[in-house]
Amino acid sequence: MDNFIEFKKVSVIRDDKKILDNINLNIGLDDNVVIIGPNGSGKSTFIKLIIGKNYPSYTEDDTVFKLFGRQKWNIYNLRSMLGIVTNELEYDFHNGITGFEAVLSGFFSSIGVFCNHKITNGMIQKADNVIDFLGISFLKNRQLETMSYGESKKFLIARALVNNPKVLILDEPSNGLDIALSIKFRSIMRKITKVKTKIVLVTHLVSDIIPEIDRFIFLKEGKIYADGKSKEIFNSEKLSSLFGVKVNLVKTNEFYNINAVGDDIV
Ligand SMILES: Nc1ncnc2c1ncn2[C@@H]1O[C@H](COP(=O)(O)OP(=O)(O)O)[C@@H](O)[C@H]1O
Ligand SMILES: [Mg+2]
Repeated sequence: MDNFIEFKKVSVIRDDKKILDNINLNIGLDDNVVIIGPNGSGKSTFIKLIIGKNYPSYTEDDTVFKLFGRQKWNIYNLRSMLGIVTNELEYDFHNGITGFEAVLSGFFSSIGVFCNHKITNGMIQKADNVIDFLGISFLKNRQLETMSYGESKKFLIARALVNNPKVLILDEPSNGLDIALSIKFRSIMRKITKVKTKIVLVTHLVSDIIPEIDRFIFLKEGKIYADGKSKEIFNSEKLSSLFGVKVNLVKTNEFYNINAVGDDIV
């Protein structure tokens, strides 16, 4: 089966600075993955690259930039393989549409449903199933912009899931959520990994990471700093050098957490 990502020597340059610097990375379709790194390490740039909002700067002749085995993608076809939930997406939906319409719009990769969209009974059924799966049926006729942050985020996840994507990318999913909601979102992520969709979680918080995640990719200053399994690289020492501050990583069966020590690492 093709990999989700096959990148060789991929860089993104802005203002003469490499904000992604010579990324060599394969992500298959078997693993749930976390991409973790400090603020400004290039995580969102990486996502923009995948959704076609940024392009790789082809500084090397042998750069490879493949998604699902292909170098070129029609972005609408790609979006049916790949679900993405970013925090920016939230602002796009301040246009009076209901939660249900937002979910339906996932079939058209649009921000809302318009008269030229042909909505089938199958789509309505599927949207209802996903909404039910996420436990938000009671809210589906409310306008998205009248919902709390956590509620509307669940609808955006439902929107991303209607196409049964092979991969769901979540950018800083607990951003703006309180403790209870962050925990709720972890259960949603865990539930999604039980169906066929794989998760690529992008975050700066170890507390977002669910036990189903088996591969850790550390991003630092636009470069891949480490890449491996929990046992191999996910430890206090490595995390301290990733974030540039001394931390103690606490691992339980279910959760990861940080006890800050706080001294800067020189
Ligand atoms: N369009 C841009 N022009 C110039 N610099 C940018 C642009 N987009 C991002 N950057 C810079 O690239 C770095 C990585 O940004 P970003 O990908 O948003 O990081 P993260 O999501 O990890 O916080 C930051 O230093 C940011 O200021
Ligand atoms: Mg970001």
